[in-house]
Amino acid sequence: MFEKRFILFIFVSTFLFSQEKSDLLELGKKVYTESCAVCHGLSGKGDGVVASNLEVKPRNFTDGKFKVRSTKSGQVPLDEDLYRILSRGMGHDNAMPTWSHLSVDKKHAVVAYLKTFAPKKFARQARVKVVPVPPRKESTRESIAAGKQWFLDIECTKCHGLSGRADGPSTKTLKDSWGNKIVPPDLSKPWLYIGGSKAEDIYRTLATGLTGSAMPAIEGTLTEDQTWDLVNFLMHEYIDPGNNAPR
Ligand code: HEC
Ligand code: HEC
Repeated sequence: MFEKRFILFIFVSTFLFSQEKSDLLELGKKVYTESCAVCHGLSGKGDGVVASNLEVKPRNFTDGKFKVRSTKSGQVPLDEDLYRILSRGMGHDNAMPTWSHLSVDKKHAVVAYLKTFAPKKFARQARVKVVPVPPRKESTRESIAAGKQWFLDIECTKCHGLSGRADGPSTKTLKDSWGNKIVPPDLSKPWLYIGGSKAEDIYRTLATGLTGSAMPAIEGTLTEDQTWDLVNFLMHEYIDPGNNAPR
């Protein structure tokens, strides 16, 4: 008797769960068609009607490559990462607008829907590794100086230039994974940063890289402590010069 009831319970809850899921995807498809397809294309390939007019091309969702993530280089993002992008947009000068005005339900629904464009890639989402962002190291003069040395030694300057204003030797020839020309932002304009410009955001961007862009991940190249030195340098040099300014 107990067993029969249990089986019925499983059956009913599976049914309700799949019903809920299909309602979510239906709402997601509606939001996507109304608000996203014009750039990202109805089939998610990044080929919406206005795409060819945009300098930074809309993401092709069918290959599962995403730039701004909390997960290791090359892995798919968490739902939270996609949700954060919708709430925040990607840098002020970029064509990807913010969707902070969409309701919480609509944002969750459109995130669920866009994952259906790369089902195999997102099936691995349960096994991704989140790159930890440890508490910030104090921004002392020594830390900033060590960070500056890393900026030179690991050749950030190749693409970003000595000045950080996108005038390095490789700057002009960079291409993204989709074959489009890509230009690094002027690092002194934090509103252009697609992954956010708080110290923790920059740590995450450097550690995870921006998959698909030319910007590599440094996790494994620098320790956590050295990564903070580099972030402290970037914050001091480009974003907030008052941050431990020499007295
Ligand atoms: C006006 C054009 C436009 C519209 C409309 C638009 N996007 Fe985008 N989107 C872009 C562009 C351009 C990029 C690529 C930005 C980049 O690579 O810096 C992008 C990138 C993204 C990314 C990739 C983030 C990453 O980390 O790689 C996601 C997710 C995304 N859009 C979701 C959406 C959703 C969902 C909607 C609808 C609610 C939407 N976009 C509407 C232009 C648009
Ligand atoms: C091979 C070229 C290349 C190298 C090397 C490189 N970058 Fe970048 N970087 C880029 C490109 C291209 C972008 C813009 C990516 C985009 O918007 O899609 C970028 C973006 C950035 C950003 C802005 C992040 C954001 O959220 O928009 C920061 C900060 C940055 N790089 C710092 C660094 C540091 C520090 C190093 C050295 C460890 C470095 N980069 C090495 C090409 C490079």
